[in-house]
Amino acid sequence: MTRSKAIITGATGGIGAVYADRLADRGHDLILTGRDLSRLSELADRLGRKTHVETIAADLDRADDLGALASRLESDASLTLLVNNAGIASGGRALSADLDEQERLIRLNVIAATRLALAAARAFAARGRGTIINIASVTALMPERFPPVYPATKAYLLAFGQSLAAELAPAGVRVHNVLPGATRTEIWERAGLSLDAFPAEMVMEVEEMVDAALAGFDQGELVTIPSLPDADDWQRLETARAALGPNLSRNRAAARFGLPTAA
Ligand SMILES: NC(=O)c1ccc[n+]([C@@H]2O[C@H](COP(=O)([O-])OP(=O)(O)OC[C@H]3O[C@@H](n4cnc5c(N)ncnc54)[C@H](OP(=O)(O)O)[C@@H]3O)[C@@H](O)[C@H]2O)c1
Repeated sequence: MTRSKAIITGATGGIGAVYADRLADRGHDLILTGRDLSRLSELADRLGRKTHVETIAADLDRADDLGALASRLESDASLTLLVNNAGIASGGRALSADLDEQERLIRLNVIAATRLALAAARAFAARGRGTIINIASVTALMPERFPPVYPATKAYLLAFGQSLAAELAPAGVRVHNVLPGATRTEIWERAGLSLDAFPAEMVMEVEEMVDAALAGFDQGELVTIPSLPDADDWQRLETARAALGPNLSRNRAAARFGLPTAA
C-alpha cells in the first residue's frame, strides 16, 4: 500500500513547520513548500529521519509557481492531504495602507488558497478520499477589531471552507477549518507588528496551537478554534446563523420598513 502524502504550504516556519513535524509523526510523507528553499531543506533534513520529504520552492504570488503546485496536486495520486497554510498579515489601516501590499495580501491569502483548495478538491473527489485543512483566523469573527483587509481574507477562507466542506462531504473529502488566535510566529514581525501589544494570556505557542487543531480534527470538528473552552459556543453561533435562513431571501420586504402592502 502506498503511504499517504501531505502537501503543506508555508512550511518554512511557524504553523506550517509544526504541521509538517506532526504529520510526519502520523506517518505521512511530505511535500514542503515556501519561498525560502534553504529553510525548507533544513526542515526536510530534520524530518527526513521520520519520513520521506520533498521540498518545492514556490512563490504563491507568482501565477506560474501557483499553477505548477496546483498541477502537482492534480497529478500526484499519493497526495491525500493539503494544509492550505501560507499567508501573510498586515497592519495596514483603511486610510493609510499601502494598496499594493493589501492586494498582495489578497492574492496570497485568498487567490492562492482558493486555487490550491479547488485543485485539491477536484483531485481528492475523483480519488474518493482526501482532506483539506484551511488555516483561517479568529479575526474572521471579529473584523471590526483589526485593520480591514486581513480579517476579510480570513472571513473569506472560513466561508469558502464551510461551503467546500458541504459540497465535498458526499465525495469522501473532508475540509477542516482552523481559526487560530494570536500565535507566536514570525508573521507578526514580518508585517511590522508586535505580539507585545497583546497580553501574554492571549498568545499561544505555535506547537500547542497545532496540537489542539489536530485534536479538533481527530474529534471530527468542521471548525476548530484552539483556545475556545466550550465547543457549544461555536455551535450556538452556527445555530443562530441557521435560524436567519428562512428570512434571508423572501419576495417581500420586511413589515418593519412600513412599505405599502401588495394589492
Ligand atoms: N500567527 C498567528 O497569530 C496567526 C493567527 C491566525 C492565523 N494565522 C495564519 O496562519 C498561517 C501561517 O502563518 P504563521 O503564523 O505560521 O506565519 P509565518 O511563520 O510567517 O509563516 C508563513 C508562511 O507562509 C509562507 N509564505 C509567505 N509568503 C509566501 C509566498 N508569497 N509564497 C509562498 N509562501 C509564502 C512563508 O514562507 P516563505 O517566507 O519561505 O515563503 C511561511 O512559511 C497564515 O495563513 C496566517 O494568516 C496565523
